[in-house]
Amino acid sequence: MAKITAGVATSHVPAIGAAVDLGKQNEPYWAPVFAGYEYSKKWIAEQKPDVILLVYNDHATAFSMDLIPTFAVGCAESFSPADEGWGPRPVPTVQGHPRLAAHICQSVIQQDFDLTIVNKMDVDHGLTVPLSLLFGQPEEWPCKIIPIAVNVVLYPPPSGSRCYALGKALRKAVESFDEDLNVQIWGTGGMSHQIQGPRAGLINQDFDNAFLERLVYDPDGLAKVPHIDYVREAGSEGIELVMWLIMRGALNTEVEQKHRFYHVPASNTAVGHLILENTD
Ligand code: DHB
Ligand code: FE
Repeated sequence: MAKITAGVATSHVPAIGAAVDLGKQNEPYWAPVFAGYEYSKKWIAEQKPDVILLVYNDHATAFSMDLIPTFAVGCAESFSPADEGWGPRPVPTVQGHPRLAAHICQSVIQQDFDLTIVNKMDVDHGLTVPLSLLFGQPEEWPCKIIPIAVNVVLYPPPSGSRCYALGKALRKAVESFDEDLNVQIWGTGGMSHQIQGPRAGLINQDFDNAFLERLVYDPDGLAKVPHIDYVREAGSEGIELVMWLIMRGALNTEVEQKHRFYHVPASNTAVGHLILENTD
């Protein structure tokens, strides 16, 4: 049986990807950001996941404004890094797990979530930056990755409670897969940031730290927060944080917090990062 053993949450700031690709990790601006992931790199090298369900949002890269699925599962053999305007990032092609992805669609759609099946898709910074933060710059990513894309770009986004419930459905799907696999689930995006309009540059450290605390210890309560609160308190792009609730929903109610990191700023964004383990 496959099992979800741990969850990871992290911001996915595109400038972090550029800092890695251009070798700027030790510059004074970036060094404190990467220091927050030192523990995580050692942790994941020990954990050796077989598959990561990587929850992220596409930033109008693979999906144009013509077609925007609310929840989409990447079922392909592989996913190429997207060209977001400066050429594709020099990172490995993502290898998928088509058999588990198809099983997830079968199980989760039959649990009444209307997922979109994606058989061809390039993946943008929302997916590749978290991989760079945890794995550095390997020749190949060390495990399979199933992209789960969530619409938080065009209104209306899914609610926090819908995302939390999706996490629970994903867990059931994984636990009914017939192969022994060590599966992790990652939630990416956030924390507070707004990159357009009169409030561009907004960061709310009180909101972010309360979110980190409640995500670990009060996920049921946090899932009830309406989307307008995210937008008001965490900025228009802070709504990306609902994706962390998908990760949290797939874990036990009580988890062990292995690592927490918070840093301001990286680009326009507050960087947050959590590692949570299922203890049984
Ligand atoms: C920034 C952060 C994001 O999460 C994103 O998707 C785009 C830009 C930023 O801080 O610049
Ligand atoms: Fe983003």
